[in-house]
Amino acid sequence: MPLVTTTEMFKKAYEGGYAVGAFNVNNMEIVQGITEACQEQKAPVVLQVSKGARAYANHNYLVKMVQAAVENCPEIPIALHLDHGDSFEVCKSCIDGGFTSVMIDASSKPFEENIALTKQVVEYAHAHGVVVEAELGTLAGVEDEVCVEAGNESYSRPEEVEEFVSRTGCDSLAIAIGTSHGAYKFTAAQCTRNEDGILVPPPLRFDVLEEVSKRLPGFPIVLHGSSSVPQNFVDIINAHGGKMPDAIGIPEEELRKAATMSVCKINIDSDIRLAITATIREYFDEHPDHFDPRQYLKPARQAVKDMVTHKLINVLGCNGKA
Ligand code: G3H
Ligand code: 13P
Ligand code: ZN
Repeated sequence: MPLVTTTEMFKKAYEGGYAVGAFNVNNMEIVQGITEACQEQKAPVVLQVSKGARAYANHNYLVKMVQAAVENCPEIPIALHLDHGDSFEVCKSCIDGGFTSVMIDASSKPFEENIALTKQVVEYAHAHGVVVEAELGTLAGVEDEVCVEAGNESYSRPEEVEEFVSRTGCDSLAIAIGTSHGAYKFTAAQCTRNEDGILVPPPLRFDVLEEVSKRLPGFPIVLHGSSSVPQNFVDIINAHGGKMPDAIGIPEEELRKAATMSVCKINIDSDIRLAITATIREYFDEHPDHFDPRQYLKPARQAVKDMVTHKLINVLGCNGKA
């Protein structure tokens, strides 16, 4: 099937109590690892491209690689989405350039400015058959050039969410309930420790999510910053010359719970980066004489595939839903 929008995927996800994975793509191995996992598991998927990905790999290369994946995976719905678009122009360029979904992220702007810019993108996108994700509230962490220190994030306000959605006409909304971008989502001071001394992050604000869903029944909510930062990857990285002390993510059980509620799209990027980096660091240590990139990119691609397979089945619950 050709590239799809997220409309049907999200409707089914909402009704079925699961979420669709939205994975960031930056190169061929990542596209292949993700889509091979989704094809095998019969899972719908959102492949998303950030401004940084377009700057790194070039719009045309990314679109063509995603189109190749669509041809190779004819049985699963795939949407191509712009992640964190920060202007009307970048959204328009993706809408005109083959994307089926865009995000306009004006969450750092005042409420009225966020509404005005989101509305402008929605009008253009809908006139071209493309859907729009917007954002309200501020996540901690780093995304493109925006960096918000842990502790300076602000949770979405349910009463504002309702007004924002009705005034902009956006198709889905990213809200802030305590997730955070990157591999260092929380400071030690924000966490507690379990009996083994392992850091336990503060729980997500399910009360905010519930209140939003009550006000907007049936409306799809998006969670950004939802990597779990698997400690086995962090340990491998640190054991093979890396230095990632205190890397910490969102517990998988919390994401699973969000997926059964109104969250229909869960964004994962950092876990892909960790899977690749852990695999390659270990490979280089074990094979210091190897220099053919295919030798180390092959297991890295497999690690992405294995990690995504695990998420589809155990976190998102979208396996078998294509
Ligand atoms: O939310 C941000 C995503 O992880 C994309 O990161 O802007 O470095 O490509 P990037
Ligand atoms: P992570 O950094 O938690 O993977 O979040 C990715 C994301 O939200 C992309 O928009
Ligand atoms: Zn994000």
